[in-house]
Amino acid sequence: MSDLLRVKDLKVAFELPEGRLEAVRGISFRVAPGGTVALVGESGSGKSVVSHAKTGILP
Ligand SMILES: Nc1ncnc2c1ncn2[C@@H]1O[C@H](COP(=O)(O)OP(=O)(O)O)[C@@H](O)[C@H]1O
Ligand SMILES: [Mg+2]
Repeated sequence: MSDLLRVKDLKVAFELPEGRLEAVRGISFRVAPGGTVALVGESGSGKSVVSHAKTGILP
C-alpha cells in the first residue's frame, strides 16, 4: 500500500542575525493511510518546525 505521507531527510535551517540555526537536521518518516505518527522529543527539538514545513506554514 502506498504511503499517505513520506518525508525523507527533511532539513530546515533559519538564518538569524546571530547565525544559522539548524532546527531540523534530516528527519525521515512515513505515514500509512489511516495511520498515526507521533513526533516525540524535548522542547525545541524541532517537532513544530517539521509540522509547519509539511503544512507549508514556515515563515
Ligand atoms: N520562525 C523561527 N525562527 C527562528 N527559529 C525558530 C523558528 N521556529 C522555530 N525555531 C527554532 O527551531 C528549533 C525547533 O523549534 P520547535 O520546532 O518549535 O521545537 P518543538 O516544537 O520541538 O518544541 C528551536 O531552536 C526554535 O527556537
Ligand atoms: Mg512545538
